[in-house]
Amino acid sequence: MAKILAIESSCDETAASVIDNGKLLSNIVSTQIDVHRKYGGVMPEIASRLHTENISIVIKEAMETANIKFEELDAVAVTRGPGLIGALHVGLQAAKTIAMLYKIPLIPVHHLAGHIYANEYIKEFNFPLLAVVVSGGNTELVLMKNHFDFEIIAETRDDAIGECYDKVARVLGLPYPGGIPIDKLAKEGEHTYDLPMPLRGEKTLDLSYSGLKTNVINLVHNLEQKGEKVNVPNMCKSFQDVAVGLVIDRTEKVVKLHKVKEVILAGGVSANSYLRSEMAKKMESLGIELQIPPMWCCTDNASMIAKVAEHLYDLKVFATLDLGVDPNWSIEEWNNF
Ligand code: KG4
Repeated sequence: MAKILAIESSCDETAASVIDNGKLLSNIVSTQIDVHRKYGGVMPEIASRLHTENISIVIKEAMETANIKFEELDAVAVTRGPGLIGALHVGLQAAKTIAMLYKIPLIPVHHLAGHIYANEYIKEFNFPLLAVVVSGGNTELVLMKNHFDFEIIAETRDDAIGECYDKVARVLGLPYPGGIPIDKLAKEGEHTYDLPMPLRGEKTLDLSYSGLKTNVINLVHNLEQKGEKVNVPNMCKSFQDVAVGLVIDRTEKVVKLHKVKEVILAGGVSANSYLRSEMAKKMESLGIELQIPPMWCCTDNASMIAKVAEHLYDLKVFATLDLGVDPNWSIEEWNNF
């Protein structure tokens, strides 16, 4: 075990953490949400510029909070992908600079492995497990028979579930990131709008969110053209039932097919209260253990990158200083860089 500085900058959070022998010493997150909110979504160029402005400050704060010096670090870890290319570059350049200056190993970490391993702050994994990764950029069901043995069993054919929440929120006039207000308003609404389940009738484990998004947009526009007011809480409830229902349906199928012992929720959408409660009910009925990450490590942060980095340090998974980012890095290729 070692003292590791971890850096995360794949989307709109600039984050740094220090971990020492399993103990999280700091977890600093600077979010850009307020800036991107004006545009209804993340503006990649602005994200890169803000990461550049903030990264040194965030790293400094993480080191100061941990009360350790750069000279004491055993390694520096960084998210190499997937994510926004320009945003990823900022974190990688910072990590490379520190690795070069202090002559310490550079550890490349897969962002989604980070979301999954965030759960290790709560308890050890019970293999074989199914990680349900639901975030702004990804929707995949990942089977793990052991540590770092990632097999994608099902994934979205098009949009990610979080992206769908954000777009639906925009058309309903709700603020970015859309998952939070939709989750809240759905509790006040009823399922009154007819939105078909994606890929219904198809024999597939795939997920899909682009059709659902288009159906909401068309429904809203049709109502507006007829001069009718959209009942926003009811639309949120109708949409959320379908969006979450699809995840529950696919999880149940995969769990039965692969006889998993434990299901883990991971990624920003795992903050969703309806997904949490529906998944809990379903897993209880199937007699399967469910692990839900605490709110503080659902959305992007560097503590989750630090957790993965500790394993990779032990496995000596180190990169050379010519490492590049990979915006589309597959989790199955986590050690191919
Ligand atoms: O994991 P994350 O922070 O960033 C990515 O790596 O993508 O996830 C951000 C996504 C956004 O799309 C946001 O709308 C969604 O997580 N989200 C939620 C909730 N809180 C955040 N979606 C549904 N319900 C929520 N309560």
